[in-house]
Amino acid sequence: CANGSLGTEGPEAPETDSSGTGRMRKPLERNGSTQNHVVHLERRLGLFSGVALIVGTMIGSGIFVSPSGLLVRTGSVGVSFIIWLACGVLSLLGALAYAELGTMNTSSGAEWAYFMDAYGPAPAFLFSWVSTLVLKPSQMAIICLSFAQYAVEAFVTECDPPRGVVKMVALVAIVMILFVNCYSVNLGMAVQNVFTAAKLVAVVVVICGGAWKLMQGNTQHLSNAFNGPMPNVGAIATAFYTGLWAYDGWNNLNYVTEEIKNPSKNLPRSIIIGIPLVTLCYALINISYLAAMSPQEMIESEAVAVTFGNRILGALAWLMPLSVTISTFGSANGTLFAAGRLCFAASREGHLLDILSYVHVRRLTPAPGLIFHSLIASAMVLHGTIDSLIDFFSFTAWIFYGGAMLALIVMRYTKPNYPRPYKVPIIIPVVVLVISVYLVAAPIFETPRVEYLYALLFIFAGLIFYVPFVKLGMTPRFMNKVTLFLQLLLEVVPTSSMAM
Ligand code: ARG
Repeated sequence: CANGSLGTEGPEAPETDSSGTGRMRKPLERNGSTQNHVVHLERRLGLFSGVALIVGTMIGSGIFVSPSGLLVRTGSVGVSFIIWLACGVLSLLGALAYAELGTMNTSSGAEWAYFMDAYGPAPAFLFSWVSTLVLKPSQMAIICLSFAQYAVEAFVTECDPPRGVVKMVALVAIVMILFVNCYSVNLGMAVQNVFTAAKLVAVVVVICGGAWKLMQGNTQHLSNAFNGPMPNVGAIATAFYTGLWAYDGWNNLNYVTEEIKNPSKNLPRSIIIGIPLVTLCYALINISYLAAMSPQEMIESEAVAVTFGNRILGALAWLMPLSVTISTFGSANGTLFAAGRLCFAASREGHLLDILSYVHVRRLTPAPGLIFHSLIASAMVLHGTIDSLIDFFSFTAWIFYGGAMLALIVMRYTKPNYPRPYKVPIIIPVVVLVISVYLVAAPIFETPRVEYLYALLFIFAGLIFYVPFVKLGMTPRFMNKVTLFLQLLLEVVPTSSMAM
């Protein structure tokens, strides 16, 4: 439905999945009803839209909020710049490996689909469990908090923006994005496109402003870049968390593989164009910030881009907070949009609550899944801060990104004859796997925090639900009643075996 391409057909027959794995998708016969209609998607995303989806998701809040955090964690401009570039290279390598996975198994749902093929249903379930309950909502919460911080900052000049107000504005943003996406798929896509274009304008403004300052000779903050204490191993890993947040979204196209035209060509090409483009933008933006302010000023600023705007844009300084709110709003919109697809991919195999895969009868939007994600994101907004949520998110996400690298390596041995239209040198997933093990393990050993333990416990707690409800297929009686009630309340119906 990336471009409003939901359609219906009927009657439904069981089909093999598009990966050519021969895995059968079961027709839904839950709640005693068999579908007569298939909600299906069309292949509409070409190379341009593929690049836009990657770039539009990756550029969100991170480049406007993370530079200060990265400086604090690394202690010097030079190390922080190296980490910015290394994050770009790591994202590119990870995404190239995902290109092999995504062209080998062309089902939507990214990690979920690859885990299913490589490891079977239990690990795939654990991914959808963590992703639906933690990863996707925390992405949403972080981006909306950043949105709110910049929106409020625009009106408060003398002091720090009041926390309560920031949280309220973040909640309002979640509700607005939820409304847009429940209202119509086309509206969601239009918001995405307009906001992506606007954020690119903001990026160009920052880069040009920085170039202008450099031409005036403001290069003093770029010299002696490595002056400062060297960070320890754990601090480097958490600095990576901060940087990698800004690059997160590099795998977003893999969630919608079923909608890409000629995926074996367009998926790798979009990745090869999109990620270096973002890396280049981020490197130039970092230099621009340093052309306008000192590292210390960057650390002290609550909103780096606003400080930058005040220094460079004069009477047009208001453009900066406006651009950042647009960028973050667009990224949050794309995040909720992708979350809906994950729900679909997982629930068509019976891995999530049935109701989460239902769509609105007239609007054909996956309202229950979207509402569910938004509720959890709102709770995270109320209880978390941007930095704590980013650490928690990155720690958990990199467990699964590493898992996907291992899935690629495992399948080279277990499924050697699968068609692989795009094949990466095996060293790439091995390197990314080793780095992801480091990223997950280093903070645990260097600065053990109880949150990391909770995250691990939470992942495995999924098994408590997996065994009775998915493996043994038990459904508590009251669930049917709850589902029916919600169906009537929200006017939603089950879709069939295809995602939205
Ligand atoms: N990189 C984005 C930012 O800086 C966050 C993207 C969140 N991830 C995602 N898959 N939607 O705000």
